[in-house]
Amino acid sequence: MTRFKLNGQPVTVEADEDTQLLWVLRDHLGLTGTKYGCGAAQCGACTVHIDGIASYACITPLLAVEGTEVTTIEGLSETGDHPVQKAWVAEDVPQCGYCQSGQIMRAAALLAENPTPTREEISQTMRANLCRCGTYGRIVKAVERAANEGDQ
Ligand code: FES
Ligand code: FES
Repeated sequence: MTRFKLNGQPVTVEADEDTQLLWVLRDHLGLTGTKYGCGAAQCGACTVHIDGIASYACITPLLAVEGTEVTTIEGLSETGDHPVQKAWVAEDVPQCGYCQSGQIMRAAALLAENPTPTREEISQTMRANLCRCGTYGRIVKAVERAANEGDQ
């Protein structure tokens, strides 16, 4: 049995401790906003926050989140109005959308740590998340907009 906080609420999960967090979230807890892309820490589709740090849920065993605070795209804000989410809408970032929850979680973690990143810092950080649709330019613009408008 593994206990942690998920999107602000305590949860207890009965699953093999080696199960990757991605599958615990999607299959055991029904939170499907976190996506499976590569399963090998290469694409960022599965990005969540663990104690505020952007992390790959596809390579994080359940055991590793015991006692931590996990935040997924569903818990980033109650009404979808986190400054990063608002900037994403304003810049019309997504194309197919598949990679976008991971992108938003990575961007939110960046701004929480560094509220005024340079364009270079944004590009460098966001490089960890791939987008097959090539929305990279709009992602950088949206992170800049969130940094200018948000109170992180
Ligand atoms: S699915 Fe986790 S990094 Fe690609
Ligand atoms: S929006 Fe399609 S993969 Fe990024």
